[in-house]
Amino acid sequence: MLASKRILLIIGGGIAAFKSLELIRRLRDQGAAVTPVLTRAAEEFVTPLSASALAAQKVYRDLFDLTDEAEMGHIELSRAADLVVVAPATADLMAKMAGGHANDLASTLLMATDKRVLIAPAMNVRMWEHPATQRNIATLKGDGILFAGPNEGSMACGEFGPGRMAEPEEIVTAVEAALMEGPLKGRHVLVTSGPTHEPIDPVRYIANRSSGAQGTAIARAVSALGARVTFVTGPADIPPPDGVQVVRVQKAAEMLEAVQGALPADAAIFAAAVADWRVANPATSKMKKDGSGAPALEFAENPDILATIAGMADGRPRLVVGFAAETDDVVANAQAKRARKGCDWIVANDVSPETGIMGGSENAVTLITADGAEDWPRMSKDQVAARLAQRIAEALAE
Ligand code: C5P
Repeated sequence: MLASKRILLIIGGGIAAFKSLELIRRLRDQGAAVTPVLTRAAEEFVTPLSASALAAQKVYRDLFDLTDEAEMGHIELSRAADLVVVAPATADLMAKMAGGHANDLASTLLMATDKRVLIAPAMNVRMWEHPATQRNIATLKGDGILFAGPNEGSMACGEFGPGRMAEPEEIVTAVEAALMEGPLKGRHVLVTSGPTHEPIDPVRYIANRSSGAQGTAIARAVSALGARVTFVTGPADIPPPDGVQVVRVQKAAEMLEAVQGALPADAAIFAAAVADWRVANPATSKMKKDGSGAPALEFAENPDILATIAGMADGRPRLVVGFAAETDDVVANAQAKRARKGCDWIVANDVSPETGIMGGSENAVTLITADGAEDWPRMSKDQVAARLAQRIAEALAE
């Protein structure tokens, strides 16, 4: 049910636009109020009058419509909604979104909104598979844009493949999921994940074996509870979750900068395996074997991101969570780490080789809080993430 939800529906110029009229009807059947916006090209496929009649609302069409600016500016229009939906999202509209263009009403609203954006792409299969569109998809996913479809099937142009717009009922389901009111709705949660790469020279680096699996699972779990998530990740093996804002970094110093740039946050979870040391004197060109022996690498200590954020005098997230991978005296070491780093919780785990946890799909953790140590049974990394997300929601509700 979408009772009292406000949807700003941007209709792009594609043959699938006729299905957007049906989408308006179905969204309204679920109780939503729909404000349609037509691009110039969309008007070639559907008339403003039919969109307006089905929505029982005024249709917005032109950025420079001064009457509307007097009634409601484009900034306000983009924010008055609970969700912005783009259907059909054409290749051109997606390229504009990925490039940050704002040269008509639709693209300006998409740039100005502070709400989540769900797009239903629709285009010819070759256009969908084109490297430019694939690049734009990756950019948009990294910006936290949600996708409904496209589906695979026969197309109006006679070809077959991915690119058919999702059916209106599928888009309604995606809208419901995007608007689901989880306990972390309205909260901003920051998650660090993956390893860092510390350069030796332009082609070599020092890394570690973190896959990013646990951090990715945590980002997905807090997002599923409704949080807005900023996911700061080093070069991990697995792709980041959909629907979160991704910031990719390489070095610890860049990770700290990205974390500071993402604040303020209600909670910050530091699941990244940050290198403790960086090469103090990385070479600017590739080091060569020149017969004079092995190079001497000097090391410098990296900033401790967790301790820096936990120690902030102003603007510290309310809940700061660190991880501790230990091989001996897990609980005692983790308790000492909690005190040393100044964080609220530590998620501790035993990474001795015989546990099979490092690089595996399961984890057995102990949650260390101000109240003591809680052993959790061995479970999948997804289950650990779900349970931790639930605990974060409870802590922020207090
Ligand atoms: O000191 P240790 O590396 O064991 O601490 C692990 C915790 O500290 C993790 O939460 C990790 O993300 C964080 N950390 C950090 N910056 C560092 C080192 C560790 O944020 N330079």
